[in-house]
Amino acid sequence: MSSQDRILIKGGKIVNDDQSLFADVYVEDGLIKDIGTNLRPSRPEGVKVINASGKLVMPGGIDTHTHFQFPFMGSHSIDDFFQGTKAAVAGGTTMIIDFAIPRKGCSLIEAFDTWRGWADPKVCCDYALHVAVTWWSDKVKEEMEILVRDKGVNSFKMFMAYKDLYMVHDLELYLAFTCCKDIGAIAQVHAENGDLISEGAKKMLSLGITGPEGHELCRPEEVEAEATQRAITIANSVNCPLFVVHVMSKSAGKIIANARREGKVVFGEPIAACLGTDGTNYWHKDWCHAAAHVMGPPLRPDPTTPKYLMQLLANDDLSVTGTDNCTFSTNQKALGKDDFTKIPNGVNGVEDRMSVIWEKGVHSGIMDENRYVAVTSSNAARIFNMYPRKGKIAVGSDADIVIWDPQATRTISAKTHHQAVNFNIFEGMVCHGVPLVTIAGGKVVYENGVLHVVPGHGKYIPRKPFAEYVYSRVLKRDEVCQPVPVKRQPYKGDVIQVK
Ligand code: URP
Ligand code: ZN
Ligand code: ZN
Repeated sequence: MSSQDRILIKGGKIVNDDQSLFADVYVEDGLIKDIGTNLRPSRPEGVKVINASGKLVMPGGIDTHTHFQFPFMGSHSIDDFFQGTKAAVAGGTTMIIDFAIPRKGCSLIEAFDTWRGWADPKVCCDYALHVAVTWWSDKVKEEMEILVRDKGVNSFKMFMAYKDLYMVHDLELYLAFTCCKDIGAIAQVHAENGDLISEGAKKMLSLGITGPEGHELCRPEEVEAEATQRAITIANSVNCPLFVVHVMSKSAGKIIANARREGKVVFGEPIAACLGTDGTNYWHKDWCHAAAHVMGPPLRPDPTTPKYLMQLLANDDLSVTGTDNCTFSTNQKALGKDDFTKIPNGVNGVEDRMSVIWEKGVHSGIMDENRYVAVTSSNAARIFNMYPRKGKIAVGSDADIVIWDPQATRTISAKTHHQAVNFNIFEGMVCHGVPLVTIAGGKVVYENGVLHVVPGHGKYIPRKPFAEYVYSRVLKRDEVCQPVPVKRQPYKGDVIQVK
């Protein structure tokens, strides 16, 4: 066993979502084996000792939303599973959840197998897969059951946008949500009204608006808010838990916050992009700069949006953070140089999420270090049923750890980032909160600016259905909230004759 496999982290402050404490952490065989003060391993020879005094020892980040090497809008996202997970660990993230997305009419299981074939040889940290439901039939239902039973999938994403490509209609949503509920999965939605987007885009083009600003103008916040409300209503009608991916606007955030206050089982995922920057970039004079920010739903031009969403996150109105990392370089974005509807949608974030949220959330005083761990790691592990294996510094948990320097700063730049994409939407942002060491699966994969990654070192993490954190309320409601008929005497009078 090499020193890579036995690690003693000394003198740091362990930060979990429920408490912080000063203690050492001992790692062996990929697991956290011991936590305590002044730990001394029984076989000290060959143990790598990391001095973490003055530093925080936190669960590695879980990015709930990536699209690596995704074939989309005439191109492939440029960060593949190697480059993407390498960048993830450089930023303190130790697990990502990507999406297997079949075309309409195609098999969900084949899509899942395809994505696994892409990811397994390349990933530098653990990963899981959500699967998209882009059409509906008995076969889709059967495949969802198989994916849950045999393949470790417990989350399915439905698109309410991307008309004619991935979009499903309300009845399909209803049927997919019903199936999710029956098999103990969590339903996810991309919440935007696809019909309104398609009509809005035609209108903008007819007005001569062909640049990236047209992307936001054809799908303003109410288009996202309407779909968010509709998805919540449909999910609630079948008592299915719902996870709204990439919550991008104040309006959508408020709808989720209200639904949670009404007791609905719904979770919202803002992403690094909408917490760290805004949609005024679509009006930038440099086309390349503006196009680099095109994603769906769009960033919002209201500059108060990032802080507002961060406050919802701090208050548990929103629950987790992802990135929707789906990167296209300038020459790929240029597919839409004369027509904004052809600009491949997607932005970066997987490397910078942890720093951006520390800077805008913790350093700014909106949330504390424990809530930071909740929204960057533990809540994702709970919702997607991996807790406490993931999302916690505890004996027996996977050794996915980030040693964090809350005082140090770094400046984000495409010149120094580890991603393949040639643009960074956070360019020039100075972030307090820097990952010093990242340990993934018990190995030091990043230390003081140097990567030690091995493609294929990460594992696929199967997830069981009926996550306690999500389903305890859902199942109880099934028991106690069923409508019952009123007992009454039958009507015995006349009934008119209908001809
Ligand atoms: O613009 C985005 N979001 N690209 C990736 C696909 C999606 O909708 O998540
Ligand atoms: Zn989406
Ligand atoms: Zn996405």
